[in-house]
Amino acid sequence: MRKKGFRIGVFDSGIGGLTVLETCLRVAHDLNYFYYGDNFHAPYGNRSAEEITVFVRRALTKFSEIGVDAAVLACNTATAVCAERMRGEFPFPVIGTEPAVKVAAKTCSNVLVLATSRTVESARFQSLIQSVPSCRFTPFAARGLAGAIEAKFLFGKSLTLSDHLPKGNYDGVVLGCTHYVYLKSEISAFYGGIPVFDGNEGTAKRLVSVLSEQKTNLYDHRQPLDITQNTNNCLTKIQSKGVYFVGKGGKINESVFKSERMF
Ligand code: DGL
Repeated sequence: MRKKGFRIGVFDSGIGGLTVLETCLRVAHDLNYFYYGDNFHAPYGNRSAEEITVFVRRALTKFSEIGVDAAVLACNTATAVCAERMRGEFPFPVIGTEPAVKVAAKTCSNVLVLATSRTVESARFQSLIQSVPSCRFTPFAARGLAGAIEAKFLFGKSLTLSDHLPKGNYDGVVLGCTHYVYLKSEISAFYGGIPVFDGNEGTAKRLVSVLSEQKTNLYDHRQPLDITQNTNNCLTKIQSKGVYFVGKGGKINESVFKSERMF
């Protein structure tokens, strides 16, 4: 069952999660999406787990004020660090984003997995790749790549892929960070045109399935959203699509979303 009008919070450290939002809009277009990108603290990937947890909790608290029916952590790093913990702290379902290693293993046998340092070092990531023994995975922490992508799209800074990617022969690449999805075709070309996988589709489908399992709306008696009350936190919206941008970075994220024609 589709949940028309449901409110979905979508969170990332910055612009990376806009790529997940784009996929969610394609897969489930009749929901209301509230995008919170924490651009002023991005990138998260080299920060401590404690710091990341504080930022994610802040975002989910904002989502609970909005009255979301589910939250999507459109961030592999946040998912790896604290998705489980957040599930215990908030009443709505928290859907994570994970590197698409299982999808890649269906057609590839020697796969490079690019992710942030915090993701690669996490126990969750290690057990994920160990759960697919049929495939050889080479994890690589691309330490500066997410920050460079954020700077490219926000400030027009140039980015040279060879400064960030390891050399090697692989038959597939998994993008374990939603920021990297912006460079999907460039990363494929860098390795000679091999297939590149991301977890966005899996996340969007999981959102749909979680909503269809939800028997009742969490906020049956909620008030209509008061837009003016939230203007200090920059709540802007693309009316026709039911997409709202929340938080201090709202205008930045809205402008990247529009300029990349992601809707
Ligand atoms: N886009 C995020 C991820 O998927 C975070 C990148 C970062 O802020 O370092 O991991």
